[in-house]
Amino acid sequence: MSEIQFKRHRRLRKSENLRSLVRETFIRKEDLIYPLFVVEGENIKNPVASMPGVFQISLDYLKTEIDEIVSLGIKSIILFGVPAEKDELGKEAYHDHGIVQRATRFVKEHHPEMVVIADTCLCQYTDHGHCGIVEDGKILNDPTLNLLAKTAISQAEAGADIIAPSNMMDGFVAAIRQGLDEAGFEDVPIMSYAVKYASSFYGPFRDAAHSSPQFGDRRTYQMDPSNRMEALREAQSDMEEGADFLIVKPALSYLDIIRDVKNEFNAPIVAYNVSGEYSMIKAAAANGWVNEKEMVMEKLLSMKRAGSDLIITYAAKDVARWLSE
Ligand code: PBG
Repeated sequence: MSEIQFKRHRRLRKSENLRSLVRETFIRKEDLIYPLFVVEGENIKNPVASMPGVFQISLDYLKTEIDEIVSLGIKSIILFGVPAEKDELGKEAYHDHGIVQRATRFVKEHHPEMVVIADTCLCQYTDHGHCGIVEDGKILNDPTLNLLAKTAISQAEAGADIIAPSNMMDGFVAAIRQGLDEAGFEDVPIMSYAVKYASSFYGPFRDAAHSSPQFGDRRTYQMDPSNRMEALREAQSDMEEGADFLIVKPALSYLDIIRDVKNEFNAPIVAYNVSGEYSMIKAAAANGWVNEKEMVMEKLLSMKRAGSDLIITYAAKDVARWLSE
């Protein structure tokens, strides 16, 4: 055996302390953004059947919830509203007393330091469940932009720290930026769902947010999972229009896209670890088939390794607990 030459990689793996010395990627509590579903009404804490550990909560439960989130060391939340009433134009999305606006005011009053991100979309608020104005079965782009800008402005007025438009109409960043600026909110950043695929991984979210389209699907506005170059075009136009953060969604099946976007653009990159990605691990863990903690940590590490700076995840509270152990 005197001839063979090889490299001894195992030298750096000999002990946990040595491994920790050469570790390249970390998850910090500061990286986590926790989604909350706020619902009209009182005394409501509805478990979402397809997402164990996730609830729709009414405003009176929000205080306890935020207290817990703060005590766990999580510093930002993203709010999704489940309104009592839906209509053709999604009016509750941009109503001054809409559920997200009220929830935002409530959180900022009790925990002004909490970073409140408002999801800006219409699908939870429209009776047809699409993310834009519908006419003759078509989702109209340009007339929708005005409603999105109105929604963003009303969220900023309520005190939202970041506006996160997720509807995938063309020009939504430009329209929202202009709307915010004209209303005096030049300082409110936009976290754009720049790259959002038409994904089957959103299934459980639509149970939680009651936002399933009542006809057709979202493929005329969300992206085709087959496409990679198109993601760069989407991210580029959002950067040009004034996006401050870029979201890639979903995350787990799109790690290549996260890396591409990170390499190409100089902005904080956010991975959206979506509902289906959360639920499939919960389901396997409930059957005793996998180690939930190890699998969740490994999955989040993969997103950071791929290039995401922040992660929106329903597992944020679990992860924050594990990080403190
Ligand atoms: C609304 C929206 C969706 C998600 C976030 N915002 C669903 C959709 O586009 O149908 C999905 C999030 C998740 O699955 O966790 N436009």
